[in-house]
Amino acid sequence: MAIRKVARMGHPVLRKVARDLKPEEIQSAEIQQLIEDMKATMREYGGIGIAAPQVHESVQLALIDLPPSAEEPGQSLTVFVNPKIKVLDKEEQGYWEGCLSVPELRGLVFRPRKVEVSYLDEKGKKQSFVAEDFLATVVQHELDHLQGILFVDRIEDMTKLAFLEEYQRYCLPKPEDGIGELGD
Ligand code: NI
Repeated sequence: MAIRKVARMGHPVLRKVARDLKPEEIQSAEIQQLIEDMKATMREYGGIGIAAPQVHESVQLALIDLPPSAEEPGQSLTVFVNPKIKVLDKEEQGYWEGCLSVPELRGLVFRPRKVEVSYLDEKGKKQSFVAEDFLATVVQHELDHLQGILFVDRIEDMTKLAFLEEYQRYCLPKPEDGIGELGD
């Protein structure tokens, strides 16, 4: 397992549409190693998700640390290969987002509150799940990376883009705002 260098905003790899992985590629040593390295890199930098382009690999692969559920108490890390997203509830919710590729910044982004994701897992098996609220935002943020989109592209009001320190001093959402925090 190796910690890989994280690409930062401005690097062209973050702006490309990543290519699909072929089902037979998923279990290759190279891709399994990439998954292990992404896991190590995400944990090292304290992220809750990471997409392959963030470690300079332009393939449709992302990892998210999902909170353990009642059905899968031990399972927290989910691997998404070739994911497709479908909006189930268009009502939007706002979160202050951050990103390992956009360090030291936070921005307020509104996204649909409920989505369904279909994908292949790390064994190449078809899976799908429904994400709501916080998780819906995390999933959409990570899958955006596979399309060359960064959270800053989705900020509607540029006065809601702040450095981390100023965000913590002046922008922290109040409970009555109905706005959440996402972090990196
Ligand atoms: Ni990100």
